[in-house]
Amino acid sequence: MNEPAVSIRQAHWPEEAAALRSVRTPVFVEEQRVPPDLEWDDHEATAIHLLAEAPDGEPIGAARLLSSGQIGRMAVLKSRRKAGVGTALLGAALEIARQKGLPTPFLNAQVSAIAFYRRMGFSETGEEFMEAGIAHRRMELQQNG
Ligand SMILES: CC(C)(COP(=O)(O)OP(=O)(O)OC[C@H]1O[C@@H](n2cnc3c(N)ncnc32)[C@H](O)[C@@H]1OP(=O)(O)O)[C@@H](O)C(=O)NCCC(=O)NCCS
Repeated sequence: MNEPAVSIRQAHWPEEAAALRSVRTPVFVEEQRVPPDLEWDDHEATAIHLLAEAPDGEPIGAARLLSSGQIGRMAVLKSRRKAGVGTALLGAALEIARQKGLPTPFLNAQVSAIAFYRRMGFSETGEEFMEAGIAHRRMELQQNG
């Protein structure tokens, strides 16, 4: 399989907030109708932010990693999906978590994305719950199996 035409790098908040917003606003606020007050929270200032860029530098994907091991705000622009960008973002987040010795990576998966996370080694560890009007389940990286 060819490598996806994408590069992943860490992005600094707040200096690069505009680039992160240019992905997360269309995906979460516009497409998924998450209220902006919920989308942007107190974790932004301390999170490790990842940005996926096309070869021309256009931001096309984003994710963030918290010191607790929580991965979240995984987003790829609609027109760029199913091309390996999400896999590259999540792989980069897992690598950083491993390098920093963070607690076992976990996330609150939208139910529609559970299959995506399973492919990356996560398993469901909790019951379904609602957040921002969207059904979620907690998933955790299975490290010994
Ligand atoms: C979930 C998301 C980040 C995946 O990004 P992506 O760049 O499309 O993912 P990839 O191309 O790396 O997908 C890898 C594989 O998972 C599959 N996949 C991707 N999203 C999926 C989903 N929602 N359900 C099932 N499978 C999915 C892809 O088809 C691909 O399989 P393939 O290699 O056989 O084609 C993207 O769909 C997205 O931004 N969705 C909207 C926001 C969202 O729901 N974020 C998750 C919040 S928990």
